[in-house]
Amino acid sequence: MKIDFQETTDDLAKRINIHSRFGSRDIDQWMLEILDLQPGIKILDVGCGSGKQCFSYYHHLGGKVEITGTDVSESLLDEARSKNQELGNPIEFKFLDFNQPFDLPESHYDLISACFAIYYAQDIPFTLSEMHRLLVPGGRLFTTGPMPGNKQLFYDIIKEATGKPIPPMPGSSRYASQIYGTMQDLFSKTEQHIFENPLTFDSVEPFMVYTRASMSEDRKLWNSLFQTHEEFENVMAAIEKTAQKYLEQDGKLVMTKVVGGFIATK
Ligand SMILES: C[S@@+](CC[C@H](N)C(=O)[O-])C[C@H]1O[C@@H](n2cnc3c(N)ncnc32)[C@H](O)[C@@H]1O
Repeated sequence: MKIDFQETTDDLAKRINIHSRFGSRDIDQWMLEILDLQPGIKILDVGCGSGKQCFSYYHHLGGKVEITGTDVSESLLDEARSKNQELGNPIEFKFLDFNQPFDLPESHYDLISACFAIYYAQDIPFTLSEMHRLLVPGGRLFTTGPMPGNKQLFYDIIKEATGKPIPPMPGSSRYASQIYGTMQDLFSKTEQHIFENPLTFDSVEPFMVYTRASMSEDRKLWNSLFQTHEEFENVMAAIEKTAQKYLEQDGKLVMTKVVGGFIATK
């Protein structure tokens, strides 16, 4: 399965910012609670983006941890590296395309995490097998992704505004169809956790910032709704009008993120 996906630094930063300003719960805190990390471990973060989870692990463990963050996007890696520099470079950030064999030490890591990233893999069993190979016996793989029911309001508004069906999103659909099952096949034990975080907007403006960052033109997942810049802007205008109608009806817009956290033990 080929997924044409390119995360831009700006889109990712905007969405992270909207979550922290309008969400009622902290997802990093939830991850740390379910992972119960011990000092001294070795962590590999795959699809690390600008390093959100790497820095969270590092601070939580008071620096007593070896962390390698990897991504295919050089611009996101550069952003992670500049934050890392402010801390004295305790984390290693390197290029890794998870569709290729992982050129990293085998049976080495206590934890491998892939947060909001694994569902972009072309071949899920291949990528998960590579992760399994790099874990020590008893090591854990942690993946997160959107679950069915995630951001229902967002999809309802887009559907009503455009009159078109929502294209299948790789996150929730691939967890149900492939990711969780492959984790169960490869690993000796797996567990699931669910995190719900309502984002509450009192005006349409932050909802539109999120929507633009989420659907922007370089995100090919939405190309059944728009192809050109002009079509993108027309879709945004229609979404804004529908969002305004929902806001007038309900007094606020509540978009609930529903995220699954999956821990598998080698
Ligand atoms: C939604 S972002 C999540 C980033 C980060 N984990 C976070 O939660 O902020 C998805 C990430 O997967 C990365 N990604 C997509 N395809 C990849 C590939 N083939 N190999 C490695 N990383 C990839 C993107 O560059 C992006 O950083």
